[in-house]
Amino acid sequence: MSLKKHSGSLELGECTRNPGYRDVDGDGSAAETIGDHPGEKRDSTSVKLDSEAAEEYTQLRPYAGMPKEVLLLYSSQARYRVPREILFWLTVACTLALVALTIAVIALSPRCLSWWQSSPVYQIYPRSFKDSDGDGVGDLKGIQEQLDHFQYLNIKSVWISPFYRSPMKDFGYDVEDFRAIDPLFGTMQDFEDLLAEMHNKGLKLIMDFIPNHTSDRHRWFNLSRLRDPHYEDYYVWTDCNATTPRPNNWVSVFGNSSWTYDEVRGQCYLHQFLKEQPDLNFRNPHVRQEMIDIIHFWLGKGVDGFRMDAVKHILEAAHLRDEPQVDPNKPPELVTSEWDLHHDYTTSQLGLHDLLREWRAEMDIYSREPGRYRFMVTESYDYHEVDKTMMYYSTPLVKESDFPFNFYLLDLPQNTSGLWVQHLVHLWMANMPKGQWANWVVGNHDKPRIASSSGHTYIRVINMLLLTLPGTPTTYYGEEIGMENINVTDSQIQDPRSPMQWSDDMNAGFNNKTNITWLPVHPDYRTVNVEVENSFSMVQFGRNIWPELACIIPL
Ligand code: GLC
Repeated sequence: MSLKKHSGSLELGECTRNPGYRDVDGDGSAAETIGDHPGEKRDSTSVKLDSEAAEEYTQLRPYAGMPKEVLLLYSSQARYRVPREILFWLTVACTLALVALTIAVIALSPRCLSWWQSSPVYQIYPRSFKDSDGDGVGDLKGIQEQLDHFQYLNIKSVWISPFYRSPMKDFGYDVEDFRAIDPLFGTMQDFEDLLAEMHNKGLKLIMDFIPNHTSDRHRWFNLSRLRDPHYEDYYVWTDCNATTPRPNNWVSVFGNSSWTYDEVRGQCYLHQFLKEQPDLNFRNPHVRQEMIDIIHFWLGKGVDGFRMDAVKHILEAAHLRDEPQVDPNKPPELVTSEWDLHHDYTTSQLGLHDLLREWRAEMDIYSREPGRYRFMVTESYDYHEVDKTMMYYSTPLVKESDFPFNFYLLDLPQNTSGLWVQHLVHLWMANMPKGQWANWVVGNHDKPRIASSSGHTYIRVINMLLLTLPGTPTTYYGEEIGMENINVTDSQIQDPRSPMQWSDDMNAGFNNKTNITWLPVHPDYRTVNVEVENSFSMVQFGRNIWPELACIIPL
């Protein structure tokens, strides 16, 4: 349709008639009625409107059967056009502003925290937490009996140290079967019941995953020493002299050579920990696949995450060259401790992070379900090589662990100073890659308890520090009530693994069936126990600060 305007008249081309419009005579079309010259033959597709006719249209009430042409006549007038255009552009501008605002709010607002960020992690050493069957060793049923303790403390994430089938040379860190529960701790049914009950109560279960080594009783090791073709290279073997089995100067974390001669195979195998913990050979693709299958096994059962054990040791240099001595003048035969060498060839080797990233990707397959994020934390003592630790955060585009354990507050000395603590906090915060999540650890099964390392008077303040620093705190069972190490009489070793002190009953409530406990109960259990701590009223100064502080999520 075209609309041409001449002086005082309007010409409409291809116009259509408004069927709702009736002329005054009632029998003609609008075009016939409003023509210039009555009787003149008119083109049915064009109409001329003079000022008189236009005036006639103005008599019509707006929209009451007005033909489109007339509407156009009005709508192009400035008083209608300008407000219309203003309204149009205002709507466009408002819509754009709204979209931009929404994007900005989404981009700027803090992400929803995942479960591993919004609660402290509580480490259970299962041998010592609660013994349900009275054999002196804690077990999975015992843990299930005590789940209310976590609800009282406002803790949602629970890491349980290993409970795989094991000869227990390293208390479960020597795994004989990665798919079985050690009978000391219970059965697979007990595990499944525990996990179901934890999930019912809104708790998450983190397991230990121990990839670096197995027990020497593991089926793979037996087949490997027999040179079964499939398993031959499952471990790190090398030729050595049976009488002085030291293919190089490498030393174990637990002291002395990290090589042991195996008579069955007639070669030496590597062990970065005990000789009963042979190192797996991650250069073998079958070993890599075995570990992935084990990850799937437990994630399939529903566990919520893994604490990856001793990760920096997973790979060693294939050339097996001597490591440089810290003191080059020390006679080589006196190089027996891990502190004697720079571990250039036995820790943090190229390829390590690829393995962890691969495991992360496998875990992510299970994380897609809402609320079922599977969490990974890595254990690596890099001491003051903090940049090595930070590598486990990986990059913004390639995920690895959700955080590497921050062990810098673990070794606080007696009478530590605020300045020293501040330095350690700053060390982490300043080195952590942008956008990553901090974490803090003040105790675990390998280190002395706070009361024993920093001193009694520091228990409360260190717990407060732990719970108020930005990031996820990890606490070790018993620290919430200020338990101390025990003296293990035969060696006088200070041990942080004594039975949990639940009450002032027999064996501190750890078990009530016998007098046996696998390690002695600390004598202070009559005053230092969960029952006493929890019975303090709010107004008493001694109130346990844990439940309140655990609710804080310092960002
Ligand atoms: C980790 C564990 C430690 C164990 C070692 C070997 O460091 O915390 O207890 O002995 O790995 O598995």
